[in-house]
Amino acid sequence: MTKTAGLPAHLAHPFSPAGRVDPYPAYDWLRAHDPVHRDPMSGLWLVTGHADCAALLKDPAFSAAAGQRERARDDDLPVSMLTTDGADHSRLRAPGALLLGPAALASVADGIAADTDALLDRAVERGTPVDAVAELGAPLATAVLARLFGLPADRHGTLAELARAASVNLDPLAPPHVARLGRAAMGELTRFLDAHAGQADPACPLGRLAADPRLTRPEMLGVLGLAVVGGWQPLAEAVGNALYWLLPRPEVRAALRTAGQDAAETAVDELLRLEAPIPFTARVTVRDAELPGGRIPAGQRVLAVVAAANRDPAVFADPGELVWDRRPNPHLAFGGGPHFCLAARLVKQSGAVLLGRVVRRFPEAVIAGPDPRWAPSLIPRRLTAVPVALGADDRDAAGLEGAHA
Ligand code: HEM
Repeated sequence: MTKTAGLPAHLAHPFSPAGRVDPYPAYDWLRAHDPVHRDPMSGLWLVTGHADCAALLKDPAFSAAAGQRERARDDDLPVSMLTTDGADHSRLRAPGALLLGPAALASVADGIAADTDALLDRAVERGTPVDAVAELGAPLATAVLARLFGLPADRHGTLAELARAASVNLDPLAPPHVARLGRAAMGELTRFLDAHAGQADPACPLGRLAADPRLTRPEMLGVLGLAVVGGWQPLAEAVGNALYWLLPRPEVRAALRTAGQDAAETAVDELLRLEAPIPFTARVTVRDAELPGGRIPAGQRVLAVVAAANRDPAVFADPGELVWDRRPNPHLAFGGGPHFCLAARLVKQSGAVLLGRVVRRFPEAVIAGPDPRWAPSLIPRRLTAVPVALGADDRDAAGLEGAHA
């Protein structure tokens, strides 16, 4: 088999309808046989080994600016830190800490915990089964962004709608007509954020970002837009993916019920390792590049397939299993190198708050009905629905020792 040959015929290509639902057999083959692979079907290079992906994400020979712009962004829209490299990127990322850094997180943590209790109360009121994505994940993602942005409750619905519509921009392989709709939605989202930023509370993270002189207004809006597009749907879907893995495992739920926030965050890392909501990210080589598993010439489109790297048996024992207390866990679900997810702490913290509350408040929660199905979408990796029968509500248990915030 040559290095540019396709996958063996019995394996579904990861971008084919069957491969989108279960890409892991193809990823396993590629990682084992050709971790730096030129895919004859798409013309893209698929990098699937952990060492290769980790090296790629740090190597300036792989341009995020060129890689992310490849998907025909509308140049009227503000630049974002994900579409810049080097010094331009650092200049945009530094003020981004005002929105997503430790002080911002500390200022919204109690509010997010209260919102989480409220969304679980609403789910109980509506009765079971609840859809973990639509009724737990999406409201959590909206609440997190709304807290960061200081957005009043009557605007939450609009934010969620615009976020959902603009999320197609995550998929570098979206067909042109879908990408066009995504760009239009992005324009609308940017106008919404612009109007809101003019009235935001100066003390909320968005207010502090908006007042920072290091960014022009379009650059500031670029940071906000990226937080919505890069954050809302991946976080919403991660909740469904996590409960899909967690609920059928009573021993893990029992352990998490008495675990503190740190242990719950460790579990969130492991759940993200197993089902990376952003399974790959795009780059373009600006010069010839050398990775541990092979060489890629200049001018090539490359995908760092972090979902494959996250199951590399050279790094993770039992890579296809949920080892909830896995430590260390050098997964790449948040990327790596200079573009490492700026909200990783926020995601772990808010995910752990929600999952901790679900396992404590609803000790009998189960997936209701037939097995959930994976959607044939590429990014984010998501289930079409995750119906959950919550069972008895042990509301007092939500505040157990160690389960702060
Ligand atoms: C489970 C949820 C999330 C996952 C799996 C995730 C994953 C990622 C990944 C893989 C990257 C790197 C992309 C690349 O290198 O091309 C990234 C970047 C980023 N993420 Fe997240 N993310 C999540 C949620 C969020 C949220 C909620 C926000 C904001 C509120 C956010 C903000 C960002 C930003 C601003 C960047 C760009 C950083 C840079 O370019 O320097 N993410 N994220």
